[in-house]
Amino acid sequence: MAQKKGKIVVMGSFITDIAVMTPHFPADGETVLGNSIKFGPGGKGSNQATAAKRAGAEVIMITKLGEDFMSRIAVSHYEKEGMSQKYVYTQKNGQTGSAIIEINAETAENRIIVLTAANRSITREEVDRAEEEIKTCDVVLTQLETSDEPLEEAVLLAKKYGKINVLNPAPAGDVSETVLKNTDYIIPNETEAEYYTGVHITDESSAELAADKLLAMGVKNVIITLGKAGVYAKTADYRGMIPGFRVKAVDTTGAGDAFCGGFSAAIAEGKGTEEAARFACALAAISVTRHGTSPVMPYRNEIEELLAKNTDE
Ligand code: RIB
Repeated sequence: MAQKKGKIVVMGSFITDIAVMTPHFPADGETVLGNSIKFGPGGKGSNQATAAKRAGAEVIMITKLGEDFMSRIAVSHYEKEGMSQKYVYTQKNGQTGSAIIEINAETAENRIIVLTAANRSITREEVDRAEEEIKTCDVVLTQLETSDEPLEEAVLLAKKYGKINVLNPAPAGDVSETVLKNTDYIIPNETEAEYYTGVHITDESSAELAADKLLAMGVKNVIITLGKAGVYAKTADYRGMIPGFRVKAVDTTGAGDAFCGGFSAAIAEGKGTEEAARFACALAAISVTRHGTSPVMPYRNEIEELLAKNTDE
């Protein structure tokens, strides 16, 4: 039987990533000679949308750009990816979101300062214009780089039509009770999970404790991403760790986005938690072997190759 193609509506950010590779992170007051600088398309929403599209889903992106040179990076990215720009709005005289990303060349870890700018001005009405898309989708995927109103609207519209809400609560911040109670899958990383629950995750049992606290807040299923250790899941059909893939990381920026986009694409196809998380771990693993965010999300054939290689071993 042919694989069902899932449809995902992403309501989230576009951000221009200004990524600087550095031999080490500068200390306060220190100037470091960097290795390279790169401007490229990023933003948690857009990265996740790109990951889901390349993983095989039909993707509709709702976002907002400013009126500046950085918006052209978004437009050419969406054109290249074959993504509809029907709901890519423009804030008059506004500034496109941007992020300063430092990547440690030694450890592949990153530090990010993000300016969400035009993304914060997406309105409830602009989300409503995509109601027909939400009505015909499988999954609505959101993050926290927009403001509360459009987030709540997207989540409530998804529920109006019985769709699956996936929330990546990043960057960590306040999330309303309405959003939490209507969230089917919450996908924080360990730092975000600690922010919301106060539990410092060091092992499977602390991950389970954090998951229980998130469940008590009203979300239905929890997946906590744990970097190269994989993920901890507490969902209706799975409980426990799901291991990641061993790869040589050069840049971990956007790995969480690769996971969220991949996971959403997989559950939109009807996969269960374990299979969807393995699929998403494969996306994240491939993404960290490359420099960048949206442009380095893997394609379906690459994901399947990695999965097959690890099944045979
Ligand atoms: O998750 C990585 C993303 O976070 C980057 O692309 C940057 O734009 C920030 O939003």
